[in-house]
Formats: sequence, structure tokens, C-alpha cells
Amino acid sequence: RRVVAILVAAGSGSRIGGGMPKQFLSVAGRPMLAHAHAALTRHPGVTDTVVVVAQGEEERLLHTLREVRWTHGGATRRESVARGLDAAAELGATHVLVHDAARPFLPKAVIDRLLASFDQTDAASPALPVADTLAAAPDGKLGATVPRAGLVRIQTPQAFRLSVLRDAHAAWPASEEATDDAQMVRRLGVSVAVVQGDAVLEKITHPADIAAAEARVGAEYR
Ligand code: C5P
Repeated sequence: RRVVAILVAAGSGSRIGGGMPKQFLSVAGRPMLAHAHAALTRHPGVTDTVVVVAQGEEERLLHTLREVRWTHGGATRRESVARGLDAAAELGATHVLVHDAARPFLPKAVIDRLLASFDQTDAASPALPVADTLAAAPDGKLGATVPRAGLVRIQTPQAFRLSVLRDAHAAWPASEEATDDAQMVRRLGVSVAVVQGDAVLEKITHPADIAAAEARVGAEYR
């Protein structure tokens, strides 16, 4: 097995402010994307890591990470993953882990669980149960409650046999967006195993998320 990690970091991160893409903002003492990059590259089961970076950001990337393999991203997350898949194929990958740079704190145990899943399945994603009550809120007023039993919140990294995820990207309609890759392979009828996620994997989207994430993590991430 040759596992290549694809770290997608080509978003504009415009919701967070700060004058640069959020994946370069400092979190727990390091640029956001440096955390997950370190977790992936030091895992013995990950052969290579490719960072997908926006046009014009390569200098900032090379300044941030001393040694890094990278490729250019596209206009959407889906396109950025597709570019990462091309790079992974060139590196001889049989399997990939696709991870959002916006989720900096990546426990080794989650990577272990994903790699172990390859013995049984071609696709797996970490997820956590939903604790809050969920409801629609169409016009600022609560609508129907959505039963939360059996629902999960999906995280990354998501793990795939390379050929399966490439087929899913090739088959996906260009006009349609996808917020993760698991939904794309499911469309082809591939079942996606759930492995236990982790609270520290939460995605950073808004400015307040940085302080909240820093408060959640222990010394191993600082
Ligand atoms: O915007 P959002 O937080 O959903 O993005 C999830 C991840 O996808 C981020 O790490 C972001 O950098 C990445 N992304 C990308 N290329 C895009 C849009 C998002 O690599 N065009």
C-alpha cells in the first residue's frame, strides 16, 4: 500500500479576515496548515504528502513549510482535490487521505483508524455523533426539528482507494458542488465506513474558532 495524503489549502478563507488565507494564520504558535502537515508527514503509514495551494500562494507556502510537495488548486474544493489526486497518482499512490488544512489538529489515532479501515473497505471517514437539537430555520424562526438519532457530523481526513475516488471525481457533474469526497464516492454506490472522529479535528471557519480550538488542544499541539 502506498498512501499519499492530500492537504487541501487552496481556499480563500475569506470568512475569517486577517489579510491572508486562513490556513496561513497562526494557531497554537504555528501557521494553521503546518500542524496537519506535520501530523501527516510524521505518520509512518503515510508515504507522501501533497499540499494543494492557490495560484499566487506558493511563495507563502514555501516560506511556511521548509520541505513540501505542492500543486496548484482550483476554484472549488472539489477541483482542488482533483488536482491533488493527479499529483497523488504521479507519486504512485494506491490510497489517499484527503484532509482540510482548516482542521489543523489531527490526532495520530484518527489516522491509525483510517489506515486500518483499508483492510476492510475502499472508503472511510471520521465522524462524530450530533449532541445538539437540530432544526430548520428558514426565515430566522425555527422550523421543523430534524431527528438527530443516527446523524453524524463528518470530518476529514477521508480515506479512499485512489482509483475509487478518481472515478467518483470523473463521474461528478461539473455544475454541482460537493462539500466533501465521501458524498462523491457514495454517488457511485461505494459504501463509506465511519471511524470515530475527534473533537480537536473541528474545522476553523470564523475568527472565534481559533481561540476555541486553541483552548481545546493539549500541549502535544503547541
Ligand atoms: O471553505 P472551507 O473551510 O469549507 O474549505 C475546506 C478546505 O478546502 C480548506 O482547507 C480550504 O483551503 C480548501 N479549499 C481548497 N480549494 C478551494 C476551496 C477550498 O483547497 N477552492
